[in-house]
This record gives sequence, structure tokens and C-alpha cells, in this order.
Amino acid sequence: MTEIKKGLAGVVVDTTAISKVNPETNSLLYRGYPVQDLAARKSFEEVAMLLWNGELPSGQELEEFRSFERSNRALDANVRAAIDLLPKDCHPMDVGRTAVSVLGANHPKAEDSSPEAELEKSKHLFAKFPAVVAYDQRRRRGQEPVEPRDDLDYAQNFLWMTFGEEQPPEVVDAFRVSMVLYAEHSFNASTFTARVITSTLSDLHSAVTGAIGALKGPLHGGANEAVMATFDEIGIRKEESREDAAARAKAWMEDALAQKKKVMGFGHRVYKNGDSRVPTMKAALDRMIEHYGRDEMLGLYDGLEQAMSEAKDIKPNLDYPAGPTYHLMGFNTQMFTPLFIASRITGWTAHIMEQRASNALIRPLSDYSGPDQRELPES
Ligand code: COA
Repeated sequence: MTEIKKGLAGVVVDTTAISKVNPETNSLLYRGYPVQDLAARKSFEEVAMLLWNGELPSGQELEEFRSFERSNRALDANVRAAIDLLPKDCHPMDVGRTAVSVLGANHPKAEDSSPEAELEKSKHLFAKFPAVVAYDQRRRRGQEPVEPRDDLDYAQNFLWMTFGEEQPPEVVDAFRVSMVLYAEHSFNASTFTARVITSTLSDLHSAVTGAIGALKGPLHGGANEAVMATFDEIGIRKEESREDAAARAKAWMEDALAQKKKVMGFGHRVYKNGDSRVPTMKAALDRMIEHYGRDEMLGLYDGLEQAMSEAKDIKPNLDYPAGPTYHLMGFNTQMFTPLFIASRITGWTAHIMEQRASNALIRPLSDYSGPDQRELPES
């Protein structure tokens, strides 16, 4: 009997030089650099270039990329038209998936898989995607779109296009940190999807579109939205004390676990002793809680975490602090996973280029468990 590794758990399928997830040391390296150091000191633009090129950019390389990015931020007319054709109550991940597909059809080098063209398309997607998220959130709120500004950096401009107001530096910084932390995480489900699609020699935008489909699921990226649904179900009461909120959250968790529910934002396939990205994201959440004066959110957060830890010793993953952070900034809950797309475009495209450079068609085997060969019935 062949041994089946359900969910490919524990199976090493290839090598990668892009990131190293180390559950033993609870660490995550992008091209050798600890992610918490990058989050502390580097812009998201620099991290993107590091993931794509293997090294941090020189001053001139960064300037060139910044200028490319700033001049490619506008929403294409046919992307806007395609979004407008979609129902306002469809899931924003469907909007993101559709937008990337249209951006692929628009790109003059869509079918060119040379390393130069792949890098150019990666930078292009990086620059284009924030306008999709911003436009979609605004149309759902009945607001007019806001044009990008080329005097703002990536994170500042993203928030500007979404909210139509310049955000304070601490908010911009927490947003930048979230982008850096979400950028890359080795062979997770969506990245593997992108590599499978690339392995057939399909194009970069098809691979990213497929990856978005994988990211949408609540066992993967969709968990950051699901975290907020949990907070909503418990009930966010703005004036409540931290202690009262924590007590209600603990009771909710105990009840959920007694009913054997899976609580989103906890657990991880690889990290079993805590997600390396959580301390940095939690520190950003703490700054947002202080900035917005929302102590009760900390109560909910701590109450759930403590009850889960006491009952099952399962730790939070990145989606747990990211969800409430995006909520406090003013994003609609359903926009959280599209924000994850905006960041992970960097990691996905780095993997697409790595797969392309050393390709083998990904085509595993299966053990047949259906009926033996049999005769068709007479009639
Ligand atoms: N809530 C409650 N129990 C959980 C749990 C959670 N979030 N995550 C894991 N468990 C429990 C399982 O019920 C299982 O318990 P059992 O052995 O008593 O049946 C055990 O822990 C192992 O879980 P399993 O789902 O088999 O591990 P996995 O490695 O396949 O799962 C995840 C990893 C991420 C799919 C899983 O932890 C999960 O579903 N988490 C919630 C979704 C989420 O936050 N995803 C974002 C990941 S970054």
C-alpha cells in the first residue's frame, strides 16, 4: 500500500532561495534577512525588490523602481469597467481575481516569459493592484474613486486612494509592516498553486489569478476576514473595559471549542510553537489600538488568545493580529484578503520566476480507490 501524505504534509517538493520558514527557531527569512528586521527598517518597495532580485536594491535601483511604480498606479479603464460589471455584493476576492486576469490580457508582454518581461510584469502588477482594492472598497461605500498621488510612497498612496485622506505616520507605518509580513511564506497553498500553473508554461498573470483563488479560502488567506467575523460575533463594544471584553471573548472561545469549532486565526501547518510574524504584527496592532483609543479590542484579542492557549495550546497566526489592525484602519472586513493579495503578489511572482528558471511540470500521482474495471450495463 502506497503511503499517502494527505495535504502533502511534510513533503518537500522543491528547493527555493526566496524564503526560509524555520519552525524550530520560530523564524522567517526573506533571502536570508529576518522578516522582523525588514519590517523594522525597510520600505515595502525595497522588500519587493529583495524578493524578486535576491538582494536589496541600490539607491539608484530603488529610485528607478519607485518612479516606475508611481507612474503605473492608475486604474486601467477596462479594469474599472470589468469591476463595474460585477455585483457590489460579490466577494472582493472575485474582484481581485478578475482584475488580475484583465491586467494580464492588457499587458503587451503577457505571453513573453523571458526573465526581463517577467520582472517587468511583476513590478507592473505590484503598482496596479492597490487601485483595484481602493476602487472596490469605495464603490461598495458609494464613494467616488480617488486618483493616485505620485508624491506619496506605496503605503501612503494605497491608504490615500482608499480613504481619500492622508493618514498619520503611525497608521501608514503599521500598514507598511503588514505588507512586509504578508509578502512571502515559502510553499504555502497559493504559492504552490502559482508554481503548478507556471510549471505548465502558462503565463504569469494566469499563475497569479490561480493563486488568488487558493488564497481566498478561510484555511489560508481568508482567515484574516474570518478573525473579524469572530470579533463581530462576540460583539465589539467601543466603550467597554478591556477586562469585560476579555471575559466575554474567553467565554465565547470556551463555548466554540466545546462545540469543536475551528477558530480562524489560530494554528499553522508549519509553525507549531507560534508564527514568527505574530510578535511584529501584534506590536503594530498595539500601536493602532493606542492610536485609535480602542482598548476593548485588546481585551477581545487577549481573551481569545488566552482561552485558546489554555484549552488547546494553539498559538495565533499572522491573520489574528492583522484582521483587527485593518479593521481599526477603516477597511471593510471583506477587503482584508485582497490586501493580502497586494502584498503576496511579490512572493508569488518571485516564485513564478524561480519556477520558470528551473522548471519541471508538477504532476503528482494518485492511488486509485474507485471500482475495479467493470462492464457497462446493457441498457
Ligand atoms: N481552532 C481549533 N482547533 C484547531 C485549530 C483552530 N484554529 N487549528 C488546529 N486545531 C486543532 C485541530 O482541530 C486538530 O485537533 P484534533 O487533533 O483534536 O482533531 C489539531 O489542532 C491539528 O489541526 P489540523 O487542522 O489537522 O492541522 P493542520 O496542520 O492541517 O492545520 C491549519 C493548519 C492552518 C489549516 C489549521 O490550524 C486551521 O484550520 N486554522 C484556522 C485557519 C487559519 O487561521 N488559517 C490561516 C493559516 S496562516
